[in-house]
Amino acid sequence: MAKDDLYRPDLWSLDPGVLHLNHGSFGACPSQILEKQAELRRQMESNTLGFFEQDLPELLDKAREALGSFLKAPASDLVFVDNATTGVSTVLANLDLSAGDRILVTDHGYNACSNAAHYFASRTGARVDVVNLRFPNSDADEFIDDILGACTPRTRLLLIDHITSPTALIMPLEAIIPVVQQRGIQVLVDGAHAPGMLPLSLAELGADYYTGNCHKWMCAPKGTAFLYVRPEHQSKLHPLTISHGMNRPVGDSTRFRLEFDWIGTRDLTGFLTLPTLIGYLDGVSSHGWGGIMARNRALAVEARDLIGQELGLEPPCPVDMIGSLVTVCLPKAKRTTFTDYHAVDPLKEVLRHSHGIEVSLSAWPSPAGRYLRVSAQLYNALSHYQQLTKALQLELGRGH
Ligand SMILES: Cc1ncc(COP(=O)(O)O)c(C=O)c1O
Repeated sequence: MAKDDLYRPDLWSLDPGVLHLNHGSFGACPSQILEKQAELRRQMESNTLGFFEQDLPELLDKAREALGSFLKAPASDLVFVDNATTGVSTVLANLDLSAGDRILVTDHGYNACSNAAHYFASRTGARVDVVNLRFPNSDADEFIDDILGACTPRTRLLLIDHITSPTALIMPLEAIIPVVQQRGIQVLVDGAHAPGMLPLSLAELGADYYTGNCHKWMCAPKGTAFLYVRPEHQSKLHPLTISHGMNRPVGDSTRFRLEFDWIGTRDLTGFLTLPTLIGYLDGVSSHGWGGIMARNRALAVEARDLIGQELGLEPPCPVDMIGSLVTVCLPKAKRTTFTDYHAVDPLKEVLRHSHGIEVSLSAWPSPAGRYLRVSAQLYNALSHYQQLTKALQLELGRGH
């Protein structure tokens, strides 16, 4: 095998006693970027007035410019939010829904965001339709048919993940977005996992709204995410917290940006690391971010093949539907079954406490199964998944 120059655990300060195979849930930030954030915090605390009133607007603009170049979106169409959950709720809270309107979500959607759809719909007498996507062994055309088949004349918005959380499928958004919009339905993409895992070109993608996390696959400090909003919707969109931006003189900014830039005093240093972070990881190899994405994906595919072969499991989707997150459906437990979203599979606890391995393991209802999801990031190597496979063989053999 060729030498893997992009195996770089040295960039992080991860606990060496833990095998970190779940970058997907909360990401992990490289040590140098945490140091950059600490420096920004020192700057903030050494002169809070100078920092918030004088330095911050320009620093935020620079961060937005850097992120816009990374996402291939005009900086003027981006605002910062704390996380993708907030991005989704912000859009849903601003929809002008009437009784009888409908929001469409998929059964692969993230629980928190589906909850938000139900909550905001229920306040107006609107309802939520949940489309079951054909799974496993799905293909992109089937997903498009499933979604179009569930659209109704009263459907106002489709909320769809770019990469689904429990099943790690890349949705064929380039095909889905235009056909749904042709029916007069807006599209909100929950791209929690996509930035830093897939090359993005948000302006070209054309979603009405797209929210994504910087703290997952871009490896930014926690609490850094964005919301992209097409210009024609910006004047109707307000943050969940209303503050000075609502009547501050606009100057050469926009109401949209002013409102989102200030939602009360908080620590914005995570966002301010973005220009440094994007350049830092780009410089890890001569292949830049494209090299990181390709390397992580190749390792994730190898990991899926390895786990599948060793445990005799079929992959649940074609290889072109996955990035650097992969899932396999584990055999049913002999000892316990678990079925609902909030229940914790005992196997996950055993992997954590007896083997020091962190993975994601969720119950999946249709068809019922237990989905193991593992991630590949620059601090992972193939040997990590070999270690996981051995632990799984042992514990599944014990009836877990
Ligand atoms: C599809 C999807 N949406 C939203 C989230 C939530 O991300 P956050 O907690 O950063 O809002 C996740 C987290 O894994 C996710 O997978």
